[in-house]
Amino acid sequence: MSTQYISTEESLRQAGFLVKNRELLGDGKKYHIITFGCQLNDNDSEKMAGQMEAMNLLEAEELAEADLVVINTCSIRENAAGRFFGHLGIIKNLRKDKPNLLVAVCGCMMKQEVHVDKIRRSYPFVDMVFGPQDIYRFPELLNRRLEGSRRVYDVGMEDTVAEGVPVRRERKFRALSTIMYGCNNFCSYCVVPYARGRERSRHQAEVLAELKALADEGFSEVMLLGQNVNSYGKDLPASNEQGNFVELLTKAAEQSGLKRIRFMSSHPKDISLDLLDTIAAHPNIERHIHFALQSGSNEILKAMNRKYTAEHFLNLLAEARKRIPDISITTDIIVGFPGETEEDFQDTLRVVREAGFDQAFTFQYSPRPGTPAAKLEEVPADVMTERFNRLVEVQNENSLRAHERLVGETVEVLIEGLSDHSESSLTGRDSAYHLINFTLDEEVFAELGLAETDWVRRGQALEGRFAQVKITDAKTFSLQGELVGLAPQGRVG
Ligand code: SAH
Ligand code: SF4
Ligand code: F3S
Repeated sequence: MSTQYISTEESLRQAGFLVKNRELLGDGKKYHIITFGCQLNDNDSEKMAGQMEAMNLLEAEELAEADLVVINTCSIRENAAGRFFGHLGIIKNLRKDKPNLLVAVCGCMMKQEVHVDKIRRSYPFVDMVFGPQDIYRFPELLNRRLEGSRRVYDVGMEDTVAEGVPVRRERKFRALSTIMYGCNNFCSYCVVPYARGRERSRHQAEVLAELKALADEGFSEVMLLGQNVNSYGKDLPASNEQGNFVELLTKAAEQSGLKRIRFMSSHPKDISLDLLDTIAAHPNIERHIHFALQSGSNEILKAMNRKYTAEHFLNLLAEARKRIPDISITTDIIVGFPGETEEDFQDTLRVVREAGFDQAFTFQYSPRPGTPAAKLEEVPADVMTERFNRLVEVQNENSLRAHERLVGETVEVLIEGLSDHSESSLTGRDSAYHLINFTLDEEVFAELGLAETDWVRRGQALEGRFAQVKITDAKTFSLQGELVGLAPQGRVG
């Protein structure tokens, strides 16, 4: 199936539904979105929030206050799916007291018939069901429900790229920009290619225009998103000026005016030396690459259909560190893929020790219906848990060691707000994506006119600003520091 490009004009046609819906919904109504899964889902939820605000709906902090609830689902592992049905159970009860509550469910789970059937049978109060490719037509689907359809189940099967959808940015410190949709890799355990369709890239000019607009709005940091950003552009006609990911990243770094550009994720089979050189040459591209190892055993990598070896992965990592000495490297690892022997697992431990990742997201294998690996015999649960614990221990040592190397250095932190762990410290990240908590003297707050303000508001006031922070202490998952200086507000650079 070929890609359907939805232009801003078509989005404006959808805006017609926004106006109609505004009238049908009336004033003062509230929405609440529950989002599971990855940043792609976060960005989709930002778009639905943008559409709902264009319908004059206000955000409800609490689920109980909402008149329209949207649940954006994730299907990557069984526990994400389980949590979704748990939430639907809560909403079922809520709906008993609030019969007019509108309930919409969307996201990756909706591309699997088995889940949609379960909703149809067991949760008949759900008003709307649609998929990740349908976010742009949310206004139209809602309109059908508001104009009388009892239920609107409409999961689009077309692979779309929609421009011009209104967005309500969730954070002041980091904007998200999905540069490509879908995935062509079909790793044998993964549901994403079935849920999100084939790879399709936005046009380079559209992405660059969005980045420029974000910089003009005052965003310092943007994260470029895709399941494998390194294959950006491969689906676009080579004859025009679209270019590949390296070209997009270079133009983004040189033309957008953004202070910090991040990207997620990179597939090890597609990371080029060109990409590493581009990062090295541009200080406003983050000093961080996230690329997933998944396993250190070549047998298992083959069974996973990953198309690289552990040796290739380690070579790439060495090249990255050679070319960009201050780079941090994070990864994803799956433990207990079907057929994984103790020897295979030892290979993973060996590669993890050698790689010295700054951080690793470790997962226990979860069979996903419809994927090739789901047909294979599973590793017993107790073996999987035991291996998982051993892996976490090895990686925690890596993380602590990587953090300890930073003690005494001064780094530039983009403030994300108040720290979760302490009421009187701020949190943020440096260019290498390290999580840094730091304190500020009362004198600094006095200079900022925040002497009498409570900590929550202090966090909000400083969100999105850059600070120079001296690292004083290293922990496994974070760093501790103290303020050296705060950059003037609104200044980029
Ligand atoms: N496109 C990204 C991965 C996105 S999914 C990439 O290839 O790097 C995020 C992570 O979830 C994957 O890297 C993998 O480690 C994990 N994952 C995916 N499917 C899984 C499954 N069935 N069971 C356990 N973990 C899984
Ligand atoms: Fe899933 Fe593999 Fe695609 Fe990543 S590259 S989304 S793991 S199929
Ligand atoms: Fe989940 Fe879909 Fe993202 S399955 S991880 S929300 S692409």
